[in-house]
Amino acid sequence: MITNTTAQAQTASRTSVRTPAAQAVRDYLLPFMVCFAISLVSGLFYYLVPRSWNWTASQAALWIHLITGVLGFFYLVPYVLSHYKKKGESAINLIFVWRAFRRNENESDWAYQQRVFGHILNWLMALLGLSGFVILIPSFLWMSGVVWMAGYPAYQIANLAHLGFALLALAFIGFHVARRRKRKRIN
Ligand code: HEM
Repeated sequence: MITNTTAQAQTASRTSVRTPAAQAVRDYLLPFMVCFAISLVSGLFYYLVPRSWNWTASQAALWIHLITGVLGFFYLVPYVLSHYKKKGESAINLIFVWRAFRRNENESDWAYQQRVFGHILNWLMALLGLSGFVILIPSFLWMSGVVWMAGYPAYQIANLAHLGFALLALAFIGFHVARRRKRKRIN
């Protein structure tokens, strides 16, 4: 039987206040994931589908890629900062990443691996964004009136690095974000 008290408790649990961590996931991590997915698909489309097939589609894919690629970082950075705060991780470890590889006292294998994967993911994301801007250097120069190309091998190396960082970042999103703590079996 539903009494007044149980009805009130049900309403309270339904309208329960989100924790700051859940709020950060909803406000930053999920939008970042959406941007990352769109950026990955449009980047792969631009890379794999010959431009001769449909020039407009190719250009649209590149613009979608650039916009969602850059936008993703506006969500990623605040999420990472709030995540660090919540986990009690020193923000300096973002830069001096080797400090983060030191194992904390009483840290379980799972927690240590999770932390290390997270730090590697941060660096992969930074290198991914950076390599994207490196590929764009000739375009920025051209817009400012300077014609300069680094040569085909350099372009290919930058492209391959960007593609490699994208695929590695995807793998580490799997290792870090989608990884769940193994439950102990009770026999
Ligand atoms: C700051 C953000 C980013 C910038 C400025 C950027 C820039 C670029 C540019 C200019 C290209 C075209 C390369 C060409 O001329 O062939 C490209 C391709 C590509 N991007 Fe990005 N990108 C960014 C973020 C991302 C992200 C977040 C991902 C993954 C989710 C990604 C994955 C790819 C892939 C797979 C390609 C096709 C392979 C390649 O050409 O390397 N990019 N990106």
